[in-house]
Amino acid sequence: MPWRRFRKKVERSIDVSKSIEESLDDAADGESEEDAAELAELDDASLLEAATGEPEEDRAPSELGTRLRDALATEEQRGGLPSERPLARGTSRSHEGPSEEDPRAAKRVRYPESGVDLSVEAARGLRLKNPVMTASGTFGQGVEYAELIDVSRLGAIVNKGTTPNPRPGNPQYRIAETPSGILNSIGLENPGAVEVARRYGRAWAELGVPVIVNVAGYSVEDYVYVVHEMTGTPGVVAYELNVSCPNVRGGMLFGCDPDLAADVTRAVKAETDLPVIVKLTPNAPDVVAVARACEEAGADGLTAINTVLGMRIDTERRRPMLGTGSGGLSGPAIRPIAVHITYQVAQAVSIPVIGAGGVTSAQDALEFLMAGASSVQVGTATFADPLAPLRVIEGLAAYVREHALGSIREVIGTALPRTPE
Ligand SMILES: Cc1cc2nc3c(=O)[nH]c(=O)nc-3n(C[C@H](O)[C@H](O)[C@H](O)COP(=O)(O)O)c2cc1C
Repeated sequence: MPWRRFRKKVERSIDVSKSIEESLDDAADGESEEDAAELAELDDASLLEAATGEPEEDRAPSELGTRLRDALATEEQRGGLPSERPLARGTSRSHEGPSEEDPRAAKRVRYPESGVDLSVEAARGLRLKNPVMTASGTFGQGVEYAELIDVSRLGAIVNKGTTPNPRPGNPQYRIAETPSGILNSIGLENPGAVEVARRYGRAWAELGVPVIVNVAGYSVEDYVYVVHEMTGTPGVVAYELNVSCPNVRGGMLFGCDPDLAADVTRAVKAETDLPVIVKLTPNAPDVVAVARACEEAGADGLTAINTVLGMRIDTERRRPMLGTGSGGLSGPAIRPIAVHITYQVAQAVSIPVIGAGGVTSAQDALEFLMAGASSVQVGTATFADPLAPLRVIEGLAAYVREHALGSIREVIGTALPRTPE
């Protein structure tokens, strides 16, 4: 909507009795109602005008109505409206080239990152147009967000952890607020691999953004099964293995043991030709050893990091706040840990590293890139601001411009110790 004022940021408390998906829905409902009322009041528009961005035909002209009509008329003369409005579910928009339906689209849509070389190799065999992805479990299946933001501007999206069978997730409460972060124990709630492929495959292909499937399981066979079932799903370009799951045989987390992590990597590599990324857990005694073992087993990339174990206690009930007791800490609170691990891992392996943990801005993303990551994931930040990943892209483009760089790739690894010539 060309006339729309910049959205005022409202801090909303998280209702810990609801799942994160329910909280997001509530927040989105509340925001659009507030926006509509605020716009109508401030700009003298009717609620319908404010909500739809279209002038009401049989209403006495208001100042905004007049401005809207003028704007519509001018844009129509120019050949169409700019596509700033988020897309409806299942529709797609590409800004990299003219669409078949509308060859003028590419000329009309110009984003702050247009014309800046942000492309990176996120994993061996996985080139992305920019280094910003959404983190697994924080962006649903991607299609839900297509109604809020232009997801085709993202480098990639990573879907919610996918297991062989449907999983209802963990008992409530599953989210607790912490200083600079959240604790979650959502517990891999998902409809199972077959259903994920069936429900989302077509929509993914139409989103105009590559999809990385996050795979989880409790045995090596589980991971292989999920990848087998997802094979050929439209839109899918790679797999990310969530190895922060306990192995049913022995109970040790796959990602805590170099041999177990290597076993699952090797088995999945044998199942697929797509790039395989292993997501490291900071809860491993020796993350670098796990990273090396995965590289040797054929991993094409590594994500650093998954959430950090943590706990909060309800002092009235004298019990842990989360239904599971402990949960995974995410958000800015874990960023220094994540940057440290990225820095260590990037020096130990030669495959690309994806940085994750507390990225909220381009500045944060640059820390990861300079620590040796070639791309980043934005997770918890999108709960407070669904536009956060797009702002990161815009900020990185601004950095490339301001520092007169040829591409964003010039900053990757610049903070790593210099190797003697
Ligand atoms: C609510 C929630 C659910 C998550 N679900 C998954 C998941 O299904 N699979 C996974 O590998 N990581 C999952 N994660 C971890 C994130 O993908 C990410 O690695 C972590 O939160 C650190 O990034 P952030 O601080 O930007 O959120 C989840 C995180 C949160 C907050």
